[in-house]
Amino acid sequence: MKPDQPLEPHPALPDYYPDLAQRPAFVRGLFDRTAGYYDRVNRLFSFGSGSWYRHRALLQAGLRPGMTVLDVAIGTGLVARQALAITGDPQSVVGLDVSAGMLAEVGRLLKIPLLQGLMEQLPVADARFDFVSMGYALRHVADLNATFREFHRVLRPGGTLLILEITRPAQPFKRALLKFYMGRLIPLLSRLTTGNRDMHTLMRYYWDTIEHCVPPETILDAIRTAGFAEAGCNVELGLFRAYFGRKAAAATN
Ligand SMILES: C[S@@+](CC[C@H](N)C(=O)[O-])C[C@H]1O[C@@H](n2cnc3c(N)ncnc32)[C@H](O)[C@@H]1O
Repeated sequence: MKPDQPLEPHPALPDYYPDLAQRPAFVRGLFDRTAGYYDRVNRLFSFGSGSWYRHRALLQAGLRPGMTVLDVAIGTGLVARQALAITGDPQSVVGLDVSAGMLAEVGRLLKIPLLQGLMEQLPVADARFDFVSMGYALRHVADLNATFREFHRVLRPGGTLLILEITRPAQPFKRALLKFYMGRLIPLLSRLTTGNRDMHTLMRYYWDTIEHCVPPETILDAIRTAGFAEAGCNVELGLFRAYFGRKAAAATN
């Protein structure tokens, strides 16, 4: 993999925007308009397991009390809340998101420092954090290589990266089943339970980006190419992936 070449997480999806240049504005607008419904829909369709899963993934990746965390793409704070429960200090977890709507929502729910910005260009000093987390947002960046380089830059030597993501199952039958559930049923039910048309689009877009996303090996390769000394991925049910990376203890940026 060429580290300086942009790596898009998926090709343009013309059902939503004509070309990739329009994607950032589309994504930001969609999250702005659905911020108030995101938690409710997430609780409904993760059957309450979302918080538990995020908490366990953070612990397994090595998050401990006293560490500093940057949670990128914080959304309504589903990962940050669990990070806070582990570190125990509201000043130790910093949240970042591009969407003003999401930041307003999380600001009501969590009293932690918040930053508005793009994860491809983090407004953060070098080697500032012990831990960088990102939940379910990898498919929205413009360039995976640039994003992972930024994660590496803001971690202190020995720091840890954790990325949670869903990937399409390899087996055609499982994939077709999931496509029906995530691509049809959840969007419909999201709209019916919230009365919000954008929620339907968000959940449909969620599946479409999963279906067209680059394979897990490409993501792992990009994490290594960004400079992480150790990288790996824990998979559950062939669907839930927790990618991790460790910055070398003596690394320079
Ligand atoms: C699906 S939500 C994930 C929220 C939360 N991390 C979770 O685990 O549920 C994705 C979030 O990524 C944010 N986002 C999308 N593209 C971004 C970018 N390029 N930089 C920063 N945040 C971005 C969106 O605004 C949204 O809040």
